[in-house]
Amino acid sequence: MTSETGYLLDNRQREAGRRFDALAELFDPWTLDHLDQLGLTAGWRCWEVGAGGASVPTALAERVGPTGRVLVTDIDTSWLTALSGPATGPIEVRRHDVARDEPPGGGFDLVHVRLVLVHLPDRAEALRRMAGAVRPGGWLVVEDADPALQPLACPDERGSAEELANRIRRGFRALLAERGVDLAFGRTLPALLRGAGLRDVRAEGCFPLTSPACRELEAATVRQLRGRLVAGGLATEEEIERHLDHLRGDGMDVTTAPLITCWGRRPE
Ligand SMILES: C[S@@+](CC[C@H](N)C(=O)[O-])C[C@H]1O[C@@H](n2cnc3c(N)ncnc32)[C@H](O)[C@@H]1O
Repeated sequence: MTSETGYLLDNRQREAGRRFDALAELFDPWTLDHLDQLGLTAGWRCWEVGAGGASVPTALAERVGPTGRVLVTDIDTSWLTALSGPATGPIEVRRHDVARDEPPGGGFDLVHVRLVLVHLPDRAEALRRMAGAVRPGGWLVVEDADPALQPLACPDERGSAEELANRIRRGFRALLAERGVDLAFGRTLPALLRGAGLRDVRAEGCFPLTSPACRELEAATVRQLRGRLVAGGLATEEEIERHLDHLRGDGMDVTTAPLITCWGRRPE
């Protein structure tokens, strides 16, 4: 196996679109509920970091309206092209590496990032840059996975299908760890946000135990990584086919890694 670094789940692959749709279905209501509770409203200036797909930026634009601003950035903006046109209101899409490129100026009422930092080797620097882009009194909201908090694909391992799913999930975690992903990152967010100078820090976890979107996310992830799983001796082609077959039915309860949502305010 190689020990490459970089983002494992490359957006250029076809499965990326399916993963973004499943992530939106699983987590957008949770995410937007939290942003609404922080007061997200007309006129706010927002920076959506590592947006992936269009769903969160679109929801932000609906809330901030024509007097607000939604800056949408990602290292790969290929799933955001529908957002960059004259009819897209307050949205601006920019290719941007949050760990390396100069953060945008202007002072944002809200900086939001979901499921990005865990993949970055220089995640502390990225966090510092995002915190620095929040205006005094504004909010930084960071959401990230904590796969070690609940490492199983099927916590109810009641048969061979669930056992196989858990084995393949272990393989996926091994690939992530090999890329420098911190598998216990989510739980560290409150201390990190306080360390970045934020106040009123709070955090909650989201843990969908089973749903069609959980199965779709699992299937898209496994199809995207099947070559690496097989090359690394973490699963055989036959096992992957069998697992994908199980995921097509609705008899297997598959979960995601817990998502930790953490927010804090920059002091006035
Ligand atoms: C797992 S996806 C999450 C997408 C979206 N935030 C969501 O929750 O549905 C991770 C996203 O982070 C982006 N990304 C990875 N490294 C990045 C970096 N250094 N700067 C900005 N975006 C990055 C990827 O291109 C991808 O779109």
